[in-house]
Amino acid sequence: MIRRIHHAGIVVERLSTAYAFYRDVLGLRLMQEAEIAGQGVRAALLAAGDSEIELVEPLRADSGVARFLATRGEGLHHVCFDTPDIAAELHDLAGRGIELLDHEPRDGLAGRIAFLHPRACDGVLVELATPPPGHHDNGQSPLRLKRLVIGARDVAATSSRFQTLFGFPEMALNSGPRSMLAVGRGALLIVPDEEVGGTAGMVALSLVAEDFRALMQRFDAGGIKAMRGTGEVTVEPQSSHGVHLHISRYE
Ligand code: CO
Repeated sequence: MIRRIHHAGIVVERLSTAYAFYRDVLGLRLMQEAEIAGQGVRAALLAAGDSEIELVEPLRADSGVARFLATRGEGLHHVCFDTPDIAAELHDLAGRGIELLDHEPRDGLAGRIAFLHPRACDGVLVELATPPPGHHDNGQSPLRLKRLVIGARDVAATSSRFQTLFGFPEMALNSGPRSMLAVGRGALLIVPDEEVGGTAGMVALSLVAEDFRALMQRFDAGGIKAMRGTGEVTVEPQSSHGVHLHISRYE
């Protein structure tokens, strides 16, 4: 059972420079930052409504995250789903023959965590996490993570894979060869890869701004490169550490 998108993970060269955009311009509150020795990274979680954004900086050249950075550059790396019982979830996935990177949960920034093999989810690296017990409340946030956009060679096949693996219900869409799956109060939007430059896997994040005008003022002050529309803005990846970021005023 999956409760929500816990976080979207972004690989960055340095946390300190990424904070200048994600914490200071977007205004996301830093929840925690820690070194995760086993993975050779330093990572931070920032509150984005019901979900969080994780920034990950490699500390060792031989880590998987360092190799990702060297070959792909900064950008979206993984998505993490919150489950109340990660051990049971892993056991269930393993029993169905799903390829896992971690067969046992281990300690991570989000709690007890484990990764599936990206092959299991059509090129999307999925992390599962069971946060420490206690009430989950990120409080007020200037931006809420609404959707993760995924490019797929075959939209129906990728959609049905996520539905089957995690039980996400499909939401009605009024047009196009797309599929939207609800994950808690957030969603996965699966689109044909030719719509997104041929990229299969995670391609973009959509967020909703509580105070769009104040955000645009911070964009101006910070010299952020973005394409602005009425009530929505698309940040150029050079300003957002490789991430296509759509931010809108409305739901
Ligand atoms: Co993560």
